[in-house]
Amino acid sequence: MSEFRVSPVTQPLRGGIRVPADKSISHRAAILGALATGTTRISNFLQSETTQATVNCLRALGVEIEQPDATTLIAHGRGLHSLREPSDVLHCSGSGTTMRLLAGVCAGQDFLSILDGTPALKRRPMARIAEPLRAMGATVLGRDDGRLPPLGIRGGNLHGIDYTLPVASAQVKSAILLAGLFADSPTIVREPALSRDHTERMLRAFGAKIEIRDWRLEIGLISNLQSPISNLHVPNDFSSAAFFIVAALLVPGSEIWIEGVGVSVTRTGLLDALRKMGARIELENERDESGEPVADVVVRGGSDLRATEISGEIVPRMIDEFPIFAIAATQARGETVVRDAQELRVKESDRIGTLATELRKMGAQIQERADGFVIAGPTKLRGARVDAHHDHRLAMSLAVAGLLARGETVVAGWECVADSFPGFATLLPQVAEPALSLPKGRRSQA
Ligand code: S3P
Repeated sequence: MSEFRVSPVTQPLRGGIRVPADKSISHRAAILGALATGTTRISNFLQSETTQATVNCLRALGVEIEQPDATTLIAHGRGLHSLREPSDVLHCSGSGTTMRLLAGVCAGQDFLSILDGTPALKRRPMARIAEPLRAMGATVLGRDDGRLPPLGIRGGNLHGIDYTLPVASAQVKSAILLAGLFADSPTIVREPALSRDHTERMLRAFGAKIEIRDWRLEIGLISNLQSPISNLHVPNDFSSAAFFIVAALLVPGSEIWIEGVGVSVTRTGLLDALRKMGARIELENERDESGEPVADVVVRGGSDLRATEISGEIVPRMIDEFPIFAIAATQARGETVVRDAQELRVKESDRIGTLATELRKMGAQIQERADGFVIAGPTKLRGARVDAHHDHRLAMSLAVAGLLARGETVVAGWECVADSFPGFATLLPQVAEPALSLPKGRRSQA
């Protein structure tokens, strides 16, 4: 097990940085590229444990995929009906996205697929995809009657359904939409709140017929997806940028600029929450890249943050950012309350429980609730030995907490960071040591 040692910052964070490519969009680009007819060239593809798991599974399903360099992926798709029965178990590593999205694809195939993963993935709930995929006509088996991995899927002959999601989950929505590509009638998905919309954006780019009205999506019948003519460029990951956004915000005098970040409103709930608390964050150079809104994010530190309440529709729009949001809350004046976030219990770790356990070791005042937490601030954190619980986002959030703490922080179980952000430990010191100058044309305002 590896560990990461963090010393308190002594100076403002400075610099222009690039964070890795978006994890969610990378998974989807590989999957749709594999299902389309023609060659799909994907640039800025995220190299990580989880995205590589998706690529390996697609290869095991018979798709030819080249990776000529670390961030380029070329999928030679042969059409929706060209997959073949894998000769072995499809290993999804620790990736819920891989397992749930590929379950949707496998449900459309008239052969047996078995999906399995790490011990942590084996604990993630799967009834949420098993139920709608069964309703479409697939056979889905798994431990505990399909509630837990491994999953065995035999599909084919699917029918469209009209399905209301019991939770706002982009993975479940995507599994149903992907299965809908193989159905003999249109499929409708209704969301209780807006979750990340990358699947529907990308399905459009590949020529699928998809109608979206409010929180209702309908995917129509189609004989094949077509590879986009031009290169598909993956934006940088807002969820990875989030660690640097909060770090810069909390260190007075900081100014950082994060290039080319995906800013779909379905992902940027954290910005709304932090701005409400008094943060100074700007989006510059807003543009569209391969059907996704992208911007450069500029953060200036040192604002006096006020506590806030988070509940309702914003929760799915910041679902992966609660660990780093909790660090910001420890530095805000008053009681920050998070509600309606029970989904945090079934992420890479039980993020309500693990956040409370680990942040308390650093002196934070945090109380668990069944569907969220309450944090009283501001608190001067103290360095401690903390554990990542196999959860990449918890690990990086604790490292950011370590920058603000008195004394050294050691994050044990650091290797899980490879799930989304293998270079984090190299990038953090670059901004924490102001030797890195601002990019040309930008001037410090601090
Ligand atoms: C993801 C959706 C979210 C998110 C996960 C990635 C995706 O999960 O937490 O990290 O790529 O669709 P849920 O769909 O379970 O909310």
